[in-house]
Parts: sequence; structure tokens; C-alpha cells
Amino acid sequence: MFAATALQATDKTAQYAELVEQARGLLHGEGDRIANAANFAALVYHALPDLNWAGFYFFDGRELVVGPFQGKPACVRIALGKGVCGTAAATRQTQVVRDVEAFPGHIPCDAASRSEIVVPLVDGERLIGVWDVDSPRLARFDADDREGMEALVRVFMQSLHAS
Ligand code: SME
Repeated sequence: MFAATALQATDKTAQYAELVEQARGLLHGEGDRIANAANFAALVYHALPDLNWAGFYFFDGRELVVGPFQGKPACVRIALGKGVCGTAAATRQTQVVRDVEAFPGHIPCDAASRSEIVVPLVDGERLIGVWDVDSPRLARFDADDREGMEALVRVFMQSLHAS
């Protein structure tokens, strides 16, 4: 079985590079979306510090529906354009929110969340969903996290084309 090792690198960019390699190994040869989403969420949640939620919302053709995640139970459905997730999905732009209380329309799922990053999942023109990570620490996510999370999401999206 796959054994994720603790990240060795100390700077954040190098840590994400290691994590991307671990994600590639973990998802290698498997194309099942639920399986890969579950393992991806578990890998990232346990590898990075100061997270209280990490998981997926998938687009069902109408709205976002919660998928595999780590953390406390979350809201099930989010309309496009609503909250941080719905905004990332509607704009297809990563949202880095330093203070969730200052984000208009933020949907509180876990009251402990103070900051959040949401990366849209897009396959060509098609919206697949979003990857959502919350932190109990204010301003937990910066430009390095955006780059790192987007690189991780590319690994997840590529895995969906594996046979
Ligand atoms: N805070 C999100 C909702 C999802 S939970 O954080 C898991 C939002 O505003 O879209």
C-alpha cells in the first residue's frame, strides 16, 4: 500500500513539489474519480499544517455537491456564484480568502475556519467542481499556496483520464 512520508523540504514551494510527486504516485494508474478524490483529500489534509477541512465539491450539472473530504461534516449543496466555492466555480478562478468573515456571502460550514482557498476543477471547457481547503488560521494561504494547490489539482485532473 502507498505510504505517504512526512514532507522533508522546509520551504513551502519545495514542500508542494514533494506533495505533487506523492499525489502522482498515489493516483497513478487509477481513473476512478471518487477513489482518487478520497485519497487526494486524505493526502493533502494530513501533509499540510493548520488545516481543518480539505475536500471536493463536484458540479452535478446544476450546482455543487459535496464529495470526498477530510474534516467535519459540511454543507451538501452550494449554488454557482454562492460562497467561496460557488464563486470559484462561476468565475473559474482560484479564490484565496485571507479572512472568511470579510468575504461577502461566505458559507460557514466549520465555525473554526478563518481562511480558505478554493481551486476550480475544469476539464477543457467543462466545469467538474472545486477543490476547497479551510484553515483555522487567519491568512493561512498565500500566492505559494495558490501555485501549489493549482499544481496538485492538475495531478488530480490528469488522473481522471487514466484508464
Ligand atoms: N466555506 C465554503 C463552503 C464549504 S466549507 O468551507 C467546507 C464557501 O463559502 O463556499
